[in-house]
Amino acid sequence: MNTTQTFDNRSIGIFDSGIGGLSIAKRISEQLPHENLIYVADSQHAPYGEKSTGFITERVNLIAQQLIKQECKALVIACNTATVNAISQLRSQVDIPIIGVEPAIKPAAKQSINKKVAVLVTQATSQNPNFQRLIDRHHNGALVTIQPCPGLVELIEQGKQHSDQCYQLLKKYLEPLMSAGVDTLVLGCTHYPFVLEAITSITGGLIHVLETATPVTSYLSRQLKDKGLSANVKQTGQHQFFSSKVSEHQQQLFSQLWQAPLTVNALTIL
Ligand code: DGL
Repeated sequence: MNTTQTFDNRSIGIFDSGIGGLSIAKRISEQLPHENLIYVADSQHAPYGEKSTGFITERVNLIAQQLIKQECKALVIACNTATVNAISQLRSQVDIPIIGVEPAIKPAAKQSINKKVAVLVTQATSQNPNFQRLIDRHHNGALVTIQPCPGLVELIEQGKQHSDQCYQLLKKYLEPLMSAGVDTLVLGCTHYPFVLEAITSITGGLIHVLETATPVTSYLSRQLKDKGLSANVKQTGQHQFFSSKVSEHQQQLFSQLWQAPLTVNALTIL
């Protein structure tokens, strides 16, 4: 019997308020090297963490429409803030798979020895009822402290993730959690993996840190397989990058975080 395997070489659209989602996109490119990726940074409107649900929803819909026009076969909302605020309404309007990013509360509660977990998030995520419900559903008896981190995304967007200013700000957010005896820390914003080095230095490596790039990539991979959307393994995936605010500085930052030279194109219609 002859079986013909079909492939879908259309792109996967990945987006965030800025450069944070590159932490997810990079993992996707490593684990799914045959997939074509289109990454969109809405840097003109970052940070989303200080915006209203209405505003975030409007931006998410505009970017999603744009990616669908580019014939994307699946979308990854590589942003906790946008996921918690806007994924349900987007799923109700669009019929391709939409994968969101949620803070890893469930594995953190399971792994914590003393059942003291903290989650670093943006202001908008911390105030969102869907986020509260996520904690209620998955805390599994652990005490979960929510730590909003205003100012952190802005510094990372400016490329100041290794600065003393960034270190001091992180210290201000982490010290009370260390004093409270937290043993497991969830990074609930896709920008935060880019300050992991500073977090480890402040905590002395004594707090276990969880982020979501690997589970999101595994989930995406399963969805593509289940729905017959995987790309041909014989091809090497092409990667395109767009931003609503292109500058020389951003171009350098993208290349630095992606660990390879790349071109950021202007997303002019947004
Ligand atoms: N990277 C985003 C997140 O995961 C949003 C950061 C922001 O724009 O405030 O929440």
